[in-house]
Amino acid sequence: MKRLSSRADSIRPSPTLSLNAQLTARRTAGEEVLNLSVGEPDFPMPDRAREYAAKAIADGRNRYTDVAGIPELRERIRRKLAEDNALEYTPDDVVVANGAKHALFNAFLALCEDGDEVVVPAPYWVTYPEQVRVTGARPVIVPTAAKLTAEQLAAAVTPRTKAVVLNSPGNPTGATYSRAELAALAEVVLRHDLFVVEDLIYEYFHYGDGGVPSIASLGPELQARTVVVNGVSKSCAMTGWRVGYTAAPPEIARLIRRLQGQATSNVSVVAQYAALGAMDDVPWDAIRSYRYRRDLAHRRLTAIDGVRCPLPTGAFYLFPDVSALLAGRTADEFCSALLTETGVGLVPGTGFGAPDHVRLSYAVDIPVLDEALDRLAAFAAA
Ligand SMILES: Cc1ncc(COP(=O)(O)O)c(C=O)c1O
Repeated sequence: MKRLSSRADSIRPSPTLSLNAQLTARRTAGEEVLNLSVGEPDFPMPDRAREYAAKAIADGRNRYTDVAGIPELRERIRRKLAEDNALEYTPDDVVVANGAKHALFNAFLALCEDGDEVVVPAPYWVTYPEQVRVTGARPVIVPTAAKLTAEQLAAAVTPRTKAVVLNSPGNPTGATYSRAELAALAEVVLRHDLFVVEDLIYEYFHYGDGGVPSIASLGPELQARTVVVNGVSKSCAMTGWRVGYTAAPPEIARLIRRLQGQATSNVSVVAQYAALGAMDDVPWDAIRSYRYRRDLAHRRLTAIDGVRCPLPTGAFYLFPDVSALLAGRTADEFCSALLTETGVGLVPGTGFGAPDHVRLSYAVDIPVLDEALDRLAAFAAA
């Protein structure tokens, strides 16, 4: 038989897969699992999303839609971007995709090709380097203390650099870029003629003052080179519905639409109506309640000897440095032992480009969080 695609084979599987297999095996064996590895909110989806989805089905909405999404949803997204992000787009600049992950993939495919380089600040969300690789481009991983600085970006740029990825608030660190930090990065972006792929999927999970600034809002010349990515997966607890989007300058939006038109076509029409309802019924109280969990988890975690963790300003993760607790083990071995001995599931930092760290999600019930942190503290002290 002929060889399978070496490009496909070069993609690393999601690092949470083996952890999930272990978690499932434990659960199937009837053992307790305190799962702090989850990447999704634990509150219910908005009522209006359910109503709109039910109505779409009752109304017999069963046909293809425009590849880029139903006009009402694209118009609603346009309005959201104007209101929340001070970004002026037309509905034609918006392409609704199958989750933010697919929206990102569209963006990388539209921008990158063989030989290009894309700057990916580490710690990074596991998917960015792999998606960049699929396009034939090379992810250039730049280690940071959570946020990329202008100096670090400038030092990483080569004549091949096509784009830089910004994720704010970030997974796994929860760090949020300030307007001043973005302005410094913007200067390097313009000087070197780069594109920006800006992932704002955790935008509403922000515990600082004001909103989360977008680099695209710093001026027309920045907006002209930025693809903004967002969606309802996290903000409306609708990870399973698969609705995300890109907002991009017309030339890039045109390519994204063309790519999607030959790959998946439109997102499920029912999911699009659900997202439309969701965007008018964002569960703000539930989102705000995460601040309390962040504070609780951070206080308890940093009370453990050997754990270092800045207080994140966004998302719903803590990403502590646990190098003092590893005792010769890798983070993977540490997480595996923690799970076997205590039933607590954390994600090793290895897949995020930070092998001395672990990721803890506080998007779980407070009693579960408390119990898991008791066990983690006991495990660390043993
Ligand atoms: C930083 C980041 N971007 C994008 C996504 C993907 O979101 P979606 O479920 O809408 O594809 C995730 C999911 O975990 C994420 O953490």
